[in-house]
Amino acid sequence: MLILGIESSCDETAVALVADGHSVIGSLVASQTAVHMPFGGVVPEVAAREHLKVIGPLLQQLLRESGTTREQIDAVAVTQGPGLIGAILVGVAYAKGLALALGRPLIPVDHVHAHIHGAMLGIKASAQQVYPTLALVVSGGHTNLYFMANPTHFRLLASSIDDACGECFDKVAKLLGLGYPGGPVIEALAEYGDERAVAMPRMVSQRSRLEFSYSGLKTFMANQITEHKPLSDRMRADLCASFQAEALGQIIRKLQEALRLHPESKSVLVAGGVAANKRFRQLMAEQIPVPAFFPPLEYCSDNAAMIAAYGFHLHQAHPEHAAQWMSHDWDAYSRYDFIKAMNATP
Ligand code: KG4
Ligand code: ZN
Repeated sequence: MLILGIESSCDETAVALVADGHSVIGSLVASQTAVHMPFGGVVPEVAAREHLKVIGPLLQQLLRESGTTREQIDAVAVTQGPGLIGAILVGVAYAKGLALALGRPLIPVDHVHAHIHGAMLGIKASAQQVYPTLALVVSGGHTNLYFMANPTHFRLLASSIDDACGECFDKVAKLLGLGYPGGPVIEALAEYGDERAVAMPRMVSQRSRLEFSYSGLKTFMANQITEHKPLSDRMRADLCASFQAEALGQIIRKLQEALRLHPESKSVLVAGGVAANKRFRQLMAEQIPVPAFFPPLEYCSDNAAMIAAYGFHLHQAHPEHAAQWMSHDWDAYSRYDFIKAMNATP
């Protein structure tokens, strides 16, 4: 079954063709990073207009490069939320028009859940080796931990009560004058520092609580930077190393506790930009007793292959919604019951 995935929830327009939920026939991502750079962040109205500009030509390029015709597409899957509403509207309206014209089902997909399926695309492991699993989305916008019994079952165990992990890396990098995105540059500087040099506060330290918290760590770093000004190279590297160890250490501790609460978990899956961090991978290998899967970054950060892959699994798992998909009668951030039902987890 060939599914076209469409993603437009933030500052990446992406289209992809995926066969049977696992074989990527083609995947294109048009990033708007340079367009938003002068503003120091994503401007929603600008993002929506950029999506509108590139989505048509991007799909044509995908079809041309993969030698696929529109008629070969069996279903269209599109990000329905969460994200910037104007940006999502562009993708949903485009997907709707296409599915309607082709007479194909249109499957609404939750972007954050789909990240996990992006991670699955990049790993060489069977479903039997992976599920049930603990799945983490650690990005600039989310720090979510799920228990998944199968590809469409998402039980949210915990999320951040304030900043996301990647967001905290970005804010600390800004405080240090290191630019955006903060994760890679903090990781690079941390290699020259000592993780034990600066004692970091532990957020949400009660063992029984799985929620994440990062704003206190950011405030602590802001105070340290002011206190030690002007920062020597040594101090900057030590602060980066100590911060990184605690930002990642918090996730490791929560995972250890989640594994204690869900001993049936066979693996841990990690998606999102922070999954690129090499120290994170090391800490997981050393301290997590089950296999941890870190996929290549192309499938960790925003893409449409993950949307198509998850769309396939929803299509297989929910034949009872076939009529709604064919009616194309739902909207972005829909209140429609069938979408709630698809996302409902026991
Ligand atoms: O998933 P992603 O590409 O975009 C969204 O947030 O949707 O994640 C970007 C985030 C940024 O906050 C960035 O600083 C962080 O991932 N990041 C890292 C690393 N590479 C990217 N954080 C820590 N270490 C890294 N090596
Ligand atoms: Zn994302």
